[in-house]
Amino acid sequence: MEINPSDESPREFYFRMVSLITPRPIAWVSTISNSGHLNLAPYSFFNGVTAAPPSVVFSPVNRPDGSKKDTVLNIEQNGQFVINVVSHAIAEKMNLTSGDFGFEENEFEIAGLTTVDSLKVKPPRVKESAAQFECELIQIVKVGDGPLAANLIIGKILHLHIADEVLDQRGRVDSQRLDNVGRLGGAEYSTTRDRFEISRPS
Ligand SMILES: Cc1cc2nc3c(=O)[nH]c(=O)nc-3n(C[C@H](O)[C@H](O)[C@H](O)COP(=O)(O)O)c2cc1C
Repeated sequence: MEINPSDESPREFYFRMVSLITPRPIAWVSTISNSGHLNLAPYSFFNGVTAAPPSVVFSPVNRPDGSKKDTVLNIEQNGQFVINVVSHAIAEKMNLTSGDFGFEENEFEIAGLTTVDSLKVKPPRVKESAAQFECELIQIVKVGDGPLAANLIIGKILHLHIADEVLDQRGRVDSQRLDNVGRLGGAEYSTTRDRFEISRPS
């Protein structure tokens, strides 16, 4: 099958992309508006950028009516966000926070999650998450215009919290204890339980 993206609607091509760019890590992003409203939502067009400076990127796309998502509005206001890591045990709650809730609705309360203060930014962390990156905005890069256009959020990591329970004896993250999940296409997710090793060429 050969596909020219311009022969399909953005929605159709989106499904091609999310079924092939897999598994995707999930940034569970907490933000706060200048008026004090908390927000929490998952984003799986997400990745690390570099460790120098320590940085991440994720991609909130505009809603079908062309409006920006709450996460973007909050980051535009104050440039701060926290990325909470999603383990299997909290995947259902993560999914719940992706609902189309109003700007003033608090997804922490809706999903029964606990806030814990961050050290260097105002948005709180998700206590139930095993690791959290406190971030400040470097740049928003716009890709496209209108519905589904992206607001690529590039952020610098100011601080990292890791729960002791997911560390091994050497202080490194034990992937079995972390039990992170990835997103596939549609409603499918993957665990990180079936692992294998490949050594890099010397
Ligand atoms: C696992 C998962 C990953 C998602 N990834 C994205 C994404 O990368 N970009 C995006 O715009 N929306 C994504 N969504 C949808 C948003 O979470 C959803 O639109 C949410 O309501 C946005 O919330 P906000 O307006 O509070 O920021 C994802 C949803 C789920 C469940």
